Amino acid sequence: MAAPLGGIGAPHRPVLLKETLKFLAPERGGLFIDCTVGLGGHSEAILESSGDTRVVGMDLDPAALDYSRQRLAPFGVRFRAFQANFREIAEVLSRAGERDPRGVLVDLGVSSLQFDSPERGFSFRFDAPLDMRMDPTSGAPAADLLQQLPESEIARIIYEFGEERHSRRIARRIVERREQGRPVTTTKELADLVLGATGGGKRNQIHPATRTFQALRIAVNNELEGLGDFVEAAVDLLEPGGRFVGISFHSLEDRILKQELRRLSGQCQCPPRLPVCTCGARKVVEVLTRRPVTPGDREIDENPRARSAKLRACRKLGDMEKG
Ligand SMILES: C[S@@+](CC[C@H](N)C(=O)[O-])C[C@H]1O[C@@H](n2cnc3c(N)ncnc32)[C@H](O)[C@@H]1O
Repeated sequence: MAAPLGGIGAPHRPVLLKETLKFLAPERGGLFIDCTVGLGGHSEAILESSGDTRVVGMDLDPAALDYSRQRLAPFGVRFRAFQANFREIAEVLSRAGERDPRGVLVDLGVSSLQFDSPERGFSFRFDAPLDMRMDPTSGAPAADLLQQLPESEIARIIYEFGEERHSRRIARRIVERREQGRPVTTTKELADLVLGATGGGKRNQIHPATRTFQALRIAVNNELEGLGDFVEAAVDLLEPGGRFVGISFHSLEDRILKQELRRLSGQCQCPPRLPVCTCGARKVVEVLTRRPVTPGDREIDENPRARSAKLRACRKLGDMEKG
C-alpha cells in the first residue's frame, strides 16, 4: 500500500527544480522520462508545465513507485511508472510502447522517503537493521557485505566511495567484531564503531559516520556501475533536439557524467599519451553546462540535502548539426 502522502519526516523538495525545468523545457509538451522518479517531485513539475506532457517514470524502489503513483494519480494516463533500474531505460520505453523522448532526467542518490524511513537502514539517525537496499527485494543488505567481504575490500569501499581517511581503521574494527562473533548488524552499531575509530568530533559540520554510510550505500546498490553506459543509451533514445539532465550528489558520479557528456560531444577522453583514440568519442550532443549548475544559498538553507548537488545537461544534435 502507498505510504500516505506527507507521511515522511521532512518535506520533500526536488533539488534544482527551476534549473531542471529550464534545461528540459517541458512546456513544449511531449514525452519525458524520469529515470529516478522517487517521490515524484520533478515529475509533478514536468507534468504541470503543459497539458500535453507525458512522463514515464522508473525507480528501483517499490515504495517510491507506490508513493509517486498516488501523488501523480490526478494526471491520469499522462504519468506511468515502472519498477526498473535506469540502465534498462530502452527496455522500459519499449514496454511503455513509447519512443523518441524529448527529455530524460536522472536525479541520482537516495530519496527522503528512503533516508527518513527508519526501517530501511539508510540513516544513523535511527537504530535499525543495516539494510540500505533501494530495492529491498533484491541483492544483499549492507550488514551482509560487512559480514562477508575481506577487510581490504571494506576499506577500499569506505575510502573510495566515502573519501574517508580513517577507512582502514574502520574496516579493521568491523572485522575485529565479526571475528569475535559480534558482527555489525545495525545502524547504531556501525555509527558507534565509526565514532570510536575516528575519535568522534564533527568534520566540516558532518557527522563522522556520514561518509561510511554513504560509501556502504553506494556499494550495496552498485550506484556507479553502468552510469556512463546509461547516459549514452539515454542520449541515443532522445529525439533530435531532445535534452538530457543529470543531477549528482557525489564527486565520482559527477565525474562520470562530465566525462560521458564530453565524450558524446566529440571530445576524446583517452589518457593524453595514447596513440589512438579508444574511448569512442563521437559528436552527438551539445553540452549546455560548461560548469555544473549548483544550488544557491537560499536553496541550501531551505534544503540542506541539496548542498552537494551538481546538475549537467546536454542537447542532442540533429543530423544536419553532427558534422
Ligand atoms: C534523489 S531521489 C529522486 C527524487 C525525485 N527526483 C523527486 O523529485 O522526488 C533518487 C531515486 O532514485 C532511485 N534510484 C537510485 N538508483 C537507481 C537506479 N539505478 N535505477 C532506478 N532508480 C534508482 C532511488 O530509489 C530514489 O528513489
